[in-house]
Amino acid sequence: MDRFLTPDDLGKALRRDVADGLSARPKTLPAKWFYDERGSELFEEITRLEEYYPTRREREILAGRAGEIAEATGAVTLMELGAGSGEKTRVLLDALGGTLRTYVPVDVSGDFLAHAAERIAADHPDLTVRPVVADYERHLSLLPGGERRLVVFLGGTIGNMTPSERVSFLSALRATMNDGDALLLGADLVKNEGRLVRAYDDTRGVTAEFNRNVLNVINRELGADFVPERFEHVAVWNPGDEWIEMRLRSAERQVVHVPAVDLTVEFDAGEEMRTEISAKFRRDRIEAEAGAAGLTVDRWWTDEDGDFSLSLVRPAL
Ligand code: SAH
Ligand code: AVI
Repeated sequence: MDRFLTPDDLGKALRRDVADGLSARPKTLPAKWFYDERGSELFEEITRLEEYYPTRREREILAGRAGEIAEATGAVTLMELGAGSGEKTRVLLDALGGTLRTYVPVDVSGDFLAHAAERIAADHPDLTVRPVVADYERHLSLLPGGERRLVVFLGGTIGNMTPSERVSFLSALRATMNDGDALLLGADLVKNEGRLVRAYDDTRGVTAEFNRNVLNVINRELGADFVPERFEHVAVWNPGDEWIEMRLRSAERQVVHVPAVDLTVEFDAGEEMRTEISAKFRRDRIEAEAGAAGLTVDRWWTDEDGDFSLSLVRPAL
């Protein structure tokens, strides 16, 4: 397995993010720190929840369009960003069987990635599976190239970036792409507020546990003394920005110590700390953001109910 992020780099990045985020007003934490092995497992559990429609909808589109995607791209290398378990990607690996040689799943969650890659390699003996532990916001230029490369970024994970982070990310990705390359981009769409909020506040409390997991990560890695049960899970729709915000609300006034960054943090009763945004899109926004990065949306598909979108994006001429 290639590692552009050693445990040391991860520790350094976490210390910086936590020191900055807990000193900010309001307090924030970047969403990528949910994903230690437990966080990745909790996300997998979320994908099976009744309320969490995105995974099912995206799988439906992939199943219906995999043949077209294979024909349109003739991909030899498939690089998947934020691959997670890569389960949905199997339909693409099968459809691309005629041309595909190499699968490069990229993720920050190293142990989970290694296990997922082993399972996929075992089921595809003719495929070279080359997992890479990397941060797709920092390491795109270091990732392997390859002939006729299809980059896939599924799950709506692009929505976990702010608009300016998305433009930087797409521009950096564009800079690594050659003429015959393509990006397959999954994005969740704006819809009824009630359904959106339920997808991020399920009745079994799995999403709440996923949200609080970031506190366990900080406790373990930075020696902090967060008591996760003293924070309530909050999911709200922000209509101005068209994104869901996940927050952790301090149930009481409390003081938390984070020794690794020499920080003592006070939380007021009811104070909310933002832990994730999950932006929902309209077609024109995807086209505009791709355009701003020198990319063009070549094909656009949604599921039957119009809940989720998959775009095939190429370098603009
Ligand atoms: N693609 C899968 C998983 C989505 S969950 C799906 O569609 O179901 C988001 C994934 O992105 C997690 O596996 C997480 O570990 C990874 N991730 C989050 N931020 C990342 C970053 N900055 N760099 C690389 N991977 C990241
Ligand atoms: C990975 N990402 C697209 C998920 C989302 O829907 O924003 C993460 C998640 N957060 C809460 N539930 C799922």
